[in-house]
Amino acid sequence: MPELSVVIVATDNEQRTVLQVLVDGTSVASTVHTCATFPVAASDPVMRRVQAASPDVLLIDIPTDNHPVAMRAIELLRQELPDSAVFAIGSLSQPQVIVSAMRAGAREFIERPTTTTDLLEAFVRLTTAQRRVHKEGPRGKVFSIVNAKGGSGATTVAVNLALALQSAFGQTALIDLAPLGHTALHLNLKPLFNISDATRNLHRMDSSLLESFMTRHSGGLQLLAGTNTPAAIEPSTAEFVRLFDMLVTHYRYVVVDNSSRLDAASRLVANVSECVLLVACTDVASLWSAARVQQYLGETGNRERLRLILNRFRKVPGFTESDAENAAGVKLLWRVPNQYFAISSAIDRGAPVMEQSHTEIARCFSGLAQELTRNDADVKRAAWSLFKSV
Ligand SMILES: Nc1ncnc2c1ncn2[C@@H]1O[C@H](COP(=O)(O)OP(=O)(O)O)[C@@H](O)[C@H]1O
Ligand SMILES: [Mg+2]
Repeated sequence: MPELSVVIVATDNEQRTVLQVLVDGTSVASTVHTCATFPVAASDPVMRRVQAASPDVLLIDIPTDNHPVAMRAIELLRQELPDSAVFAIGSLSQPQVIVSAMRAGAREFIERPTTTTDLLEAFVRLTTAQRRVHKEGPRGKVFSIVNAKGGSGATTVAVNLALALQSAFGQTALIDLAPLGHTALHLNLKPLFNISDATRNLHRMDSSLLESFMTRHSGGLQLLAGTNTPAAIEPSTAEFVRLFDMLVTHYRYVVVDNSSRLDAASRLVANVSECVLLVACTDVASLWSAARVQQYLGETGNRERLRLILNRFRKVPGFTESDAENAAGVKLLWRVPNQYFAISSAIDRGAPVMEQSHTEIARCFSGLAQELTRNDADVKRAAWSLFKSV
C-alpha cells in the first residue's frame, strides 16, 4: 500500500500533536503539514499552504463548541482540493454534526478520542476504494418510501417502483428497513441474509461483503431483505451513512422500504434521499397520520424532499387533491389506482404487478419511475454527490 500524505487541521494544540502521532503510527500514512486554524477563504494563506502540500487526506478535527466553522472549512477544502479525501474527527454523540460533516463532503467520520486502528481502517478503506474506481464515479439516488399508517401500501409502492427502475435503467437495489420485512415475500425470494446481517457487520462492511448480503431477483433487481424478527436495529449514524454511501457508489437507484418505521434510522435515510415518498390513502385517519409523519420527518430538515403518494385512489365527490395535500401538509406527486384484486393476488403469488406489463397498474408504477428520474438524463448525474445538497 503506497504511503498516504496527510494534512491535519486542529485548533487544539494537544489534539493536533496526538493526531500527528496516531497518523504516523499507522505506518501507511505520514503527516506532511499541520494547521492550527481553519481556512476561511480560498485566498487564505492557510489554504495556500495546504494546497502546496497537496495531501491525499485532510484530517479535520471538529471542535465540540464551534462546529459551523469546521463545516465551512470542510466545504471550502473540498472545493479547493477536490482530489483530497476529507476525514472528520468528532464526537459521536452529535448525530447532526456527523450528517453535516458528511454533507459538507467528509468521506469518513472518526470518533474522538481516536485510535491508530480507527485511522488505519479509514486509510485502508480509502486506498481500496481508490483502487476500485480510479476516479470517483457517478453516484446513485436514494428514494425512500414510508407509509402514513400500516397497510397504506408502502411496500407495494417500494417493490413495484424498484422493479420499474430496474427494468428502465438497471442497477437498482431495494433495501428493506421495515420493522418486519415483506419485500422478499412480494418478490417470492428466499434470502440467505438480511438487513440484520448487514447492520451487524457495518464496522467491516466493504463492497464484496455488501454484495454477498444481497439477493438477486430474476430481472436483475438486488434485494437487501428485511428482518424476519421484529427487533430494533440500532447502527450508529456514521455506520449507516457509510452503508448508504456504499450503496450509492454501487447502484444507480436505491429504493428503501421503511413502511411504518419511524426512528433515527428512517430519519437519517430521509436525509440522504433524493425524495421521500409518503404513501397514504384518502381517508381521514390516513391523512391525519400523514401529517404527523410529515412533521416527524420534517424536523430534521427533510420537508422539501417529501412527496405524497395517494394509494387506492378513487375520486371522492366534494374532496379534491388539494384537500388531501393540505390535510397531509405534503405536495402530491402520484396517484395509484384502487385495484385490490390485482395487487393482493400479486402479493399472494409473489409475482408483482409490475411484471404484468401493459396493465394500468404496471403503467402507473413505470410512470412514477419516469417522474422521479425526469431530470436525470440531462443532468447526466456525473458530478452528483449524495452528501452534497442539490
Ligand atoms: N393500490 C391498491 N389497491 C388496492 N389494494 C392495495 C393497493 N395497494 C396495496 N393494497 C393492499 O394493501 C395491503 C397493504 O399493502 P402494503 O404494501 O403491505 O402496505 P404497507 O407496507 O404500507 O403496510 C396489501 O396487502 C394490498 O393487498
Ligand atoms: Mg410494509
